[in-house]
Amino acid sequence: MPESAANRSIIRKCLFPVAGYGTRFLPATKSMPKEMLPIVNKPLIQYAAEEAMEAGLHDLGFVTGRNKRAIADHFDLSYELEKEIAGTGKEKQLESINQVMETCTFTYTRQRRMLGLGHAVLTGETMINDQAFGLVLADDLCVTENGDPGVLSQLVELYRQFRCTILAVQEVPDSEVHKYGVVAGESLKEDVIRVTDMVEKPSADQAPSNLAVIGRYILTPDIFDTLRKTEPGKNDEIQLTDAILAQARSGCVMAYKFKGRRFDCGSIPGFVEASQWVYENLHKKR
Ligand code: G1P
Repeated sequence: MPESAANRSIIRKCLFPVAGYGTRFLPATKSMPKEMLPIVNKPLIQYAAEEAMEAGLHDLGFVTGRNKRAIADHFDLSYELEKEIAGTGKEKQLESINQVMETCTFTYTRQRRMLGLGHAVLTGETMINDQAFGLVLADDLCVTENGDPGVLSQLVELYRQFRCTILAVQEVPDSEVHKYGVVAGESLKEDVIRVTDMVEKPSADQAPSNLAVIGRYILTPDIFDTLRKTEPGKNDEIQLTDAILAQARSGCVMAYKFKGRRFDCGSIPGFVEASQWVYENLHKKR
């Protein structure tokens, strides 16, 4: 069926860099991907995939690594288990993952060496090619309330308006800026900032603001050529932040103060807080 111009403009692909080690959760992550850690009864990577699916991004690409096969298995059939629980009430427990599996496609490529987030994104190029795409870091769990669309949906909406790279940002205390990419720029309207500066994990006294980038992005495909030219930066890694700053300087990058909450599930306190929130707000109410 020929696609209409309107259809073509919708972003369809989403990249998930999932090759990292998850050392903060050892020993749990010794033989299990950190993205498979459950918040209550659902692994982090499934929350991430569901957020992409809700935003209409149905082609999911994973930049994986060694010891990450459980992720690909999670998005596939489990014949023995399914046969075992067929016809029982337990089948219901698989509804959410089945919906993701029926709606989305899944592609995997391996990152052999961990040379930074920028390198992970560049490794995913083969699954994206020349279209704008979503990027989701699954250890940031994002939730919304009061019927607000998911954070990635909010970014897609802004992309429709601006047609450039869009970053989700939130204000953090000065004592936390060293954990994030931090942006500064000019306020265009409520909650939208045109980025003019961006620094990866600055010290509090060098941070250009306290607006921290969280793990949700829409990136335009010129990011790949920019990443190819990006030298190792902070911590000697190829930083996505540096490539996005180059985009901001040569074109346009918008930062958006998203509606919703984000839990840093890459840290133990954030993980526990997210579990509590999901249990109280999503699980108990089902
Ligand atoms: C990465 C990015 C950083 C961003 C953060 C969001 O850092 O490099 O710019 O603010 O994700 O979670 P990481 O947490 O992987 O060290």
